[in-house]
Amino acid sequence: MNAFPGYALGAASMQGPGQARHLFQNPNLSQERAPIIEALFAYRDIVRLHMPGHRGGKGADPLFASLLGQEALLSDVTGVPAMDELHEPHGCIREAQELAAGLFGAEQTYFVVNGTSGAIHTMVLSALNDGDYIVIPRNIHKSILSAIILAGAHPLFVQPVYDEYLGFALGVEKRTLIRFLNTNPDAQNAKAVLLVNPTYYGTTQNLTSICRAIHKRGKLLLVDEAHGPHFHFHRSLPEPALRSGADAVAQGAHKMIGALTQASMLHIQGPRIDRARAKAWFQCLTSTSASYLLLASLDAARRQMALHGPELIGRAIELADTLREEVNHISGLYCFGHEITGQPGVDALDPTKVTITVKELGITGYQAEIFLRDKMGIQVEMSDLNNVLVIMSFGNTAEDIRALLQGLRALKRAAEIGQIPKKLKAVQETVPNLPPIPEMALTPRKAVQGKCTRVPLNESLGRVSAEVVTCYPPGIPILYPGEVISKETLDYLDMMKKLAFGISGPEDKTLTTLRVVENV
Ligand SMILES: Cc1ncc(COP(=O)(O)O)c(C=O)c1O
Repeated sequence: MNAFPGYALGAASMQGPGQARHLFQNPNLSQERAPIIEALFAYRDIVRLHMPGHRGGKGADPLFASLLGQEALLSDVTGVPAMDELHEPHGCIREAQELAAGLFGAEQTYFVVNGTSGAIHTMVLSALNDGDYIVIPRNIHKSILSAIILAGAHPLFVQPVYDEYLGFALGVEKRTLIRFLNTNPDAQNAKAVLLVNPTYYGTTQNLTSICRAIHKRGKLLLVDEAHGPHFHFHRSLPEPALRSGADAVAQGAHKMIGALTQASMLHIQGPRIDRARAKAWFQCLTSTSASYLLLASLDAARRQMALHGPELIGRAIELADTLREEVNHISGLYCFGHEITGQPGVDALDPTKVTITVKELGITGYQAEIFLRDKMGIQVEMSDLNNVLVIMSFGNTAEDIRALLQGLRALKRAAEIGQIPKKLKAVQETVPNLPPIPEMALTPRKAVQGKCTRVPLNESLGRVSAEVVTCYPPGIPILYPGEVISKETLDYLDMMKKLAFGISGPEDKTLTTLRVVENV
């Protein structure tokens, strides 16, 4: 059955570069089924003489049991025969993964229980060998760096477009990427390109045309689609990466659809990724006692989207549109919408990501987040120097929007009467331009595994960093492990020590010292 006209259930009716071949799909299973949940229901009355120790909740600590409820604990089982096993699925997990592959249009789908980070690790390690080159944007999520460290690969960085007004990075422009692939000798030998699409702020690139260019050069396209699993279920959302032809896609089912925290998916299609190798890496990186609460939640999230996706995602979009319109009526606040598309680095927008720019109030996004939380009892998704980001989901209500608008009006008043100190201006006027991307002397793995020493920052010129250093703003890493510390980088870090609202990565957050690799 197809619960959403115009959207293919499964790869059979897919068109274009992502044409799939049903390898791991099962056309005989209905999307109304939920094999893992059905198996858990069937298992409820069994006498349990096996792990976990709380035995279906009967032995659980009462405080914990009252928090979760006995029902949840009853479903906390491990891989007993009736419940299949994630490493070698042949029963309910296999069926549930086949249903997910069918719905998302993949040839194969893995259920991942250690976050989208886990999906990214398997994806990267399935594609790369020791010393392989991979092209990536400079502002990747840390899980991509850890995957590259595990693989022993050599990253080649491309700078994303930076929006000066909004104060955050968008995507990498296609022409920048293509120029890089054509002119950088190492990039010409790169095995893969990994893109983050959408960005945290919901902007996307035209992956179909990028994918064509990447495949034409004999490389793989891997996509971190942590924030885009819902793209499949509404016509007005950007094109999903699988439909654009990506070879592998890591999705945060817990971020944007209804799965439990950590629960994610890895989808694979096409001939470029060796399936046996992907399976071997998945097993290497996955617990042998995967939580069935997480697995069942993936089954449920898939079923919910199959049966009601367009309606639910449509509701989230409507809520977001209402919120955006109302915010834009509050002077001093700004919320970009589809008008951002077409500017460099943005080909489309996920409207459920609502970025509220507070800079005209003279306060920072961090201050706005704290005010909304401490004074108004509202927690946003995140904040940066100029903005707070909220995500509208089908779990939100009109009441949530009313509360947020009330909070934002109170924020504006508090800023106007000086109740919130105006911290923004001084920083904005003095943040220096990013230094050039440093030369990489060692792969990140060699840098983190090498013998390291801590040196004063001002004595680190010419040394090889063993740490990542990211300053906020702009949230784009300045140093990665393996990179040579240049004069421009040092001058920049020196200045940012005084200005930054946050420094992440180095052990010494004051940046008085830095860990560098010895004897390089
Ligand atoms: C773009 C992106 N990729 C990957 C991840 C990792 O996801 P997880 O926290 O599920 O491991 C995140 C987390 O926020 C993310 O924002």
